[in-house]
Amino acid sequence: MAGNTNLHAANRAKKDEFYTQEDDISNELKHYKAHFAGRTVFCNCDDPFESNFFRFFALNFNAYGLKRLIATCYDGSPVAGTQLSAFDSPDRLRTGIPHKIVITEVTDNNGDGAINLADAEWLIKNDNNVLTRLNGNGDFRSPECVELLREADIVVTNPPFSLFREYVAQLVEFDKKFLIIGNMNAVTYKEIFPLIKGNRMWMGASIHSGDREFQVPDSYPLNAAGSRVDSDGRKFIRVKGVRWFTNLDYPQRHDDLILYKTYSPQEYPKYDNYDAINVDKTADIPCDYDGVMGVPITFLDKYNPEQFEILGIDRYIEDNPNYGHRFKINDKEIYARILIRKIKK
Ligand SMILES: C[S@@+](CC[C@H](N)C(=O)[O-])C[C@H]1O[C@@H](n2cnc3c(N)ncnc32)[C@H](O)[C@@H]1O
Repeated sequence: MAGNTNLHAANRAKKDEFYTQEDDISNELKHYKAHFAGRTVFCNCDDPFESNFFRFFALNFNAYGLKRLIATCYDGSPVAGTQLSAFDSPDRLRTGIPHKIVITEVTDNNGDGAINLADAEWLIKNDNNVLTRLNGNGDFRSPECVELLREADIVVTNPPFSLFREYVAQLVEFDKKFLIIGNMNAVTYKEIFPLIKGNRMWMGASIHSGDREFQVPDSYPLNAAGSRVDSDGRKFIRVKGVRWFTNLDYPQRHDDLILYKTYSPQEYPKYDNYDAINVDKTADIPCDYDGVMGVPITFLDKYNPEQFEILGIDRYIEDNPNYGHRFKINDKEIYARILIRKIKK
């Protein structure tokens, strides 16, 4: 039994080892530059030697006007300090031992006449205050990581998906700004949906469909469709439903969705078990219907809080007689639906 538990834990840990690509990070971060000036950024699920999040912020420390960059590394990572390399670091630092890196300034540290990633690398190798060992295991919930969280203004990372609920709950508890990667389906979790409904968390700017590629450890079984190995032998898999989740505002989330369809009872039937019409595609939301509508969760990719209000989700509506069940039409279950209503302007 204990063996099984360990096996499950190991499998779970392995499934958590997805490394975000630099392009996905920079394509999202560019929408929020103004939020970062004078701020302390914390990447708390990030081995600085492996994480492109840390690399991005080290590289853009001055361009984003950061005050401080902190990264902590979890020792539960089966690949900690072993194979993925965002930095070329000396062996003596690649210990796999949980550590933190704190950067407060990136100047021409190495004296080569340019300020770039090499200077951040130089700092890590040469300044004893920059890289230090943690006392604990680097878990984002551990007291020393929570202490660092208190000092941070904005948390940016791709946290372990298996701990997404807890991870978000902690950010909310400490009232932090954040920009994190998760799976779209997380919006249906009863811990997560109230944040979406209350406009305390929304989808980020750059990923609204399709799948995204992540680097995975060498040991990862590549049986999934869309997986590949590059010419350097690095393994990648494609993951569907990836989204950025944030509470940082950006202009595009206030753009109205242009509606062109008109309502008819035939095209938009009501649910058998709830008093709302069903809309199968976000683009088909009728422009002339003022009542409650059920829309797919991908509506959130287009959601402008000045155009629509979110009223609930099929599974967690308190007054739904079939509470906890999906909506039905002609006795046929409909996939997850978010309930919305147009805001009268
Ligand atoms: C999805 S990976 C992303 C890694 C990195 N942030 C990136 O995007 O490239 C999640 C990382 O969180 C680490 N992790 C797992 N459990 C953790 C915990 N309790 N506290 C902190 N980090 C954890 C994993 O080892 C893994 O490296």
